[in-house]
Amino acid sequence: MHEIPYNAHINFDSGVIDDAQVTERRLSDMAAFYHDQEAVQRLLDDDPVLYRVYYIAQEAGSPSLWNTGVSVIEPGRVGDEYIMTKGHYHLNPEAPEVYLTLSGTGRLVLQTRQGEAKVLAMTPGAMNYIPGEWAHRTVNVGDEPLVFFAVWPSDAGYDYDTIAERGFARLVIAGDDGPQLIDNPAFIPES
Ligand SMILES: [Fe+2]
Repeated sequence: MHEIPYNAHINFDSGVIDDAQVTERRLSDMAAFYHDQEAVQRLLDDDPVLYRVYYIAQEAGSPSLWNTGVSVIEPGRVGDEYIMTKGHYHLNPEAPEVYLTLSGTGRLVLQTRQGEAKVLAMTPGAMNYIPGEWAHRTVNVGDEPLVFFAVWPSDAGYDYDTIAERGFARLVIAGDDGPQLIDNPAFIPES
């Protein structure tokens, strides 16, 4: 807990922040988020780690206090879908987030509850600004880990349930010529 100035060190290649907390997501933590359930079942015995988030969180939920972190998304696919994060809305729609890609190649998939959708590129040096009302998911479309820094207000909160129940409007899959964006046939819009 860091309500005083602090210094931390990020390894730009591995994404590890020394002495940070870590959240680890395995396939079994998010099996329902992938559209190819047969592919999920084939991979579940190994239950690979799909991504880790190293983070330094502020104790108090205040918009003037900011959490910092680095996410490391492993390369690979589940069926034709690239390895990705669950994605979430912020419970506080006034809490934005900023990403800075450190290494790897990815896509940032965004959408609003009103049905707007957008996809931004993530390559080293890309700085993505995410307004508070936009759900956000990151997808590793490369063959090395996707590593990006993030900063967000400590009162943002996380709504994973809406995504679990309704999905994202757009999916990033591996096409014949590389990453391809398709409409998610299982997406349920919010009315
Ligand atoms: Fe977020």
